Amino acid sequence: MTSNRRTFAIISHPDAGKTTLTEKLLLQGGAIHLAGEVKARGQARRARSDWMKIEQQRGISVTSSVMTFEKDGITFNLLDTPGHEDFSEDTYRTLTAVDSAVMVIDVAKGIESQTKKLFEVCRLRNVPIITFVNKVDREGRSLFEILDEVADALALDVSPQSAPLGMGGLFTGVLDFADDTVAKPEGDSREYRGKREPLGDLPDDLAEEIELVREGYPEFDLEAYRNGDLTPVFFGSALKNFGVEELIDAIAKWAPPPRPQPAGEEQISPERDEVTGFIFKVQANMDPNHRDRIAFMRQVSGTFKRGMKLTPSGFGKPIAIHSPILFFAQDRELADTAEAGDIIGIPNHGTLRVGDTLSETNKVRFTGLPNFAPEILRRVALVDPTKTKQLRKALDDLSEEGVIQVFYPEIGAQWIVGVVGQLQLEVLISRLDAEYKVAANLEASPFATARWIKGAQKDLDEFEKYNRATLAKDRDGDLVFMAKSPWDVGYQQEKHPELVFSATKER
Ligand code: G4P
Repeated sequence: MTSNRRTFAIISHPDAGKTTLTEKLLLQGGAIHLAGEVKARGQARRARSDWMKIEQQRGISVTSSVMTFEKDGITFNLLDTPGHEDFSEDTYRTLTAVDSAVMVIDVAKGIESQTKKLFEVCRLRNVPIITFVNKVDREGRSLFEILDEVADALALDVSPQSAPLGMGGLFTGVLDFADDTVAKPEGDSREYRGKREPLGDLPDDLAEEIELVREGYPEFDLEAYRNGDLTPVFFGSALKNFGVEELIDAIAKWAPPPRPQPAGEEQISPERDEVTGFIFKVQANMDPNHRDRIAFMRQVSGTFKRGMKLTPSGFGKPIAIHSPILFFAQDRELADTAEAGDIIGIPNHGTLRVGDTLSETNKVRFTGLPNFAPEILRRVALVDPTKTKQLRKALDDLSEEGVIQVFYPEIGAQWIVGVVGQLQLEVLISRLDAEYKVAANLEASPFATARWIKGAQKDLDEFEKYNRATLAKDRDGDLVFMAKSPWDVGYQQEKHPELVFSATKER
C-alpha cells in the first residue's frame, strides 16, 4: 500500500512569499476560507504571551507550527519553519521531520542567504526539493538567469515545468509545459481564477525564450528528484494565485510518501505494524503560568489510536496518550488515529524531550536528530545571586526545549549558554523573566564554539585531567570542549587523534 501522506516544509528567505504561499496552499486544500487568515491567526496567537512580544516587535515568527490539509485524497502535512535570519535549531530540527521541501525564491532576488542555509540542511538529509519561483507578476530576472542561479548556487539539476509569459507590466499568464495551456489573469486584480487557454502565437522573442527554456534543461526525472539531485521548477505568483495548483499537484504526484527513518543500523519502515515516532520539537505552552508543553512527534510507523500507550526512550515507562493533538489549519482537533508521516502534538509536563523516540516496545531508537554546535556563547550573570536554583531549573528546561544549549564548566561557577542564532538569546532573557521570574544578563564568554568529545573512556579521562579549564558538561552530563576559536578545535583534534571533536551530537 502506498501512503497518501505528504509531509513537507517550505524553505525560503524572509519576504520571498512563504506566508502568502502557505495561505494559498491551505485555501486550495479548503482548510481556510479567506486569504489573510494565516496572518490574522498568527497575530491572535502571538498576542497570547509575553515572551512572544519579541515576535511582534520584530515581525517574525519564532515558533513553528503544523498545518494539515487534504486534496484529491492526499493528506498534506505542512510544517512551518521560522524564516528569519536568526533562526534556531528548531528550524533545523523541523527539517528532520519532513520527507520533502518546497523552496520559494523571489524572481527578482534569486537564491538568498537563508534559502541557501536551509537548503544545505535539506541536502545533508537528501530531502528532495521542488522550487517555486515567486512574484512573476512583477519585474524579475530573466528565466535563464534564475534557472542557472539555482543550478549553480545549489549544485542541482533544474527542470523547468512552467514559464511566465512576460513579467511585471508585460505579464500575460503562466504557461504549463505539461499540457501547453496558459493560466490567464482576470479582473482588475489580475489574479488567476481558473481561466486557462491553449497556447496561441507568441511574439518572436518570447517564443524563442520559451523554446530555449523547454529545450535547454534536463527533463524531469523522478529518481533524480527523489535522490535530491534534481529540482523541478515552477514559476508563479502566490499573491495572484498562479502556479499554486500545479505546485500542489506536483507534491501529490512526485513528493515522496513517508520515508523509512534511521534507527542505528536499522531503517524503520512506515509499513512496520508497531507505532513509532520521534520528538523533533517541544514547545512550552503559550500561557506562562502553566508550565505544560506540547511535544511534536513525527510518526514513523504504525497506526496510532488515541489512548494508546507508548514508551518514551528518555523516560523508560509507558505513558498513555489520551489527548493527542492533530494540527488542522482551522483549529486543533482531537486526533483519533494517525498514520506514518503525521505529526501528533502530545501535551506533557516535561517527560518528553527533543530527540526522544516513542514506541510500543521500547526497542527502537531513532538516530540522526542532531544538536548543533553553538556559534554564539554567553555567560549567564544573575542579577539576584540567591536565584541560582531557579536559574539552573530554567536553563535545564529551556535547553530541553531546544531554545538554548547549556554548558556547566568544570571549573568556575558561571554557566554558559550557547545558541545558533542571536534571536535565541533574546528569547532566553525574556522567558527567564516572564516564566521563571529570574533576572539575568548575558556577558561575553571567552569561548567561540563548543565540541562534543567522544572516545574511549580512558582517553576521555586522560584528556579531562589536563584540560579541565576548557571543559564543561552539557545538560545530559556529556563532556564538551569549549574552544576559544575554530583554530583551537583543529589544534586539539590534531593533538588528540584518539578523540573525536564533534560539531553535532546525536541523541
Ligand atoms: P514571507 O512569509 O516569506 O516573509 O513573505 P510574505 O508571504 O509575507 O510576503 C512578503 C511580501 O511579498 C508581502 O508584501 C506579500 O504580499 C508580497 N508577495 C508575496 N507573494 C507575492 C507575489 O506573488 N507577487 C507580489 N507582487 N507580491 C507578493 P508586503 O507588502 O510586505 O506585506 P503585506 O502588507 O502585503 O502583507
